Amino acid sequence: MTKKIKKIGVMTSGGDAPGMNAAIRSVVRTCAFHDIECVGIYRGYEGMIEGDFTLLNARSVNNIINKGGTFLKSARSKEFMTKEGRQKACLQLKSVGIEALVLIGGDGTFTGGMIFNQEFDFPVIGIPGTIDNDILGTNFTLGYDTALNTIVEAIDKIRDTASSHKRLFFVEVMGRDVGHIALNAGVGAGAEEILVPEENLGLDRLLESLKKSKNSGKSSSIVVVAEGDKIGKNVFELKDYVEENLPDYEVRVSVLGHMQRGGPPSCYDRVLASRMGVKAVESLLDGKTSYMVGIINNKIELYPIDKAVKGHSDIDTELLRVSDIMTT
Ligand code: F6P
Repeated sequence: MTKKIKKIGVMTSGGDAPGMNAAIRSVVRTCAFHDIECVGIYRGYEGMIEGDFTLLNARSVNNIINKGGTFLKSARSKEFMTKEGRQKACLQLKSVGIEALVLIGGDGTFTGGMIFNQEFDFPVIGIPGTIDNDILGTNFTLGYDTALNTIVEAIDKIRDTASSHKRLFFVEVMGRDVGHIALNAGVGAGAEEILVPEENLGLDRLLESLKKSKNSGKSSSIVVVAEGDKIGKNVFELKDYVEENLPDYEVRVSVLGHMQRGGPPSCYDRVLASRMGVKAVESLLDGKTSYMVGIINNKIELYPIDKAVKGHSDIDTELLRVSDIMTT
């Protein structure tokens, strides 16, 4: 029989994502429900190394389900990448009696947690929180749905001005080196073309497509470009290239940037965070370790953390085809 855990630590690390607060709330309240203590760790692994902790009870997480960002703050720690840094972190956790960790973040967070688990046999469970949706073992990461809604709303506004001036807009969206955000937001916002890292459409094909669109009577267009796209030109260079080759087009660029990570989480992300938090704590209490909580076909499941960090979830290539058909 596994020893009953009495104190769990929770932290957020890496890029913040809407829904992180809702996940912390869920972890804290699930701990309270099972009558175990919960300690919040500020600023991810950095705070862990420094012992920047706070005891959290069910009331500490009132009124945060609707808040973007993370009240525990987040950081990307260089020191935790060293053995000495991890040793310090382990001593800090043990000094306050923390026996297991819930780590909310992306693949960098999970890689750190996995190594920490291997080195110190410290129980860890991950909750995927990143707008990029790039983690294997889950259909959705926390913050992704909210980011998509934020982006679609922004592009709807850009469309108003694009169509008023008969302009072409290149809109750059986040996603690091994967195209989930670009592809889904692009289809949702009715983009003319979507440039994703997974598929290099090529500059010729882009020009052809824009020519076709103009000839078919469209007066304005939106092209969504993933920040990690590999067409060989960034959005500003794309603007110059299109203006040189298709002088009929008046082109503008909009880089949406960090506004994509902010704002209140969508209902979907709040519910997902609540479900994942319960599963994370109850899995630790069941003696499980080194897993990530994922959602697959609407079922909350555990996925080995080492597999989660090794791969990227693939984009839906059928959606690329749908996008092509929609631009007819
Ligand atoms: O991983 C989330 C993310 O927002 C990516 O989409 C983006 O590439 C990166 O973080 C930006 O990181 P930073 O906040 O450090 O600029």
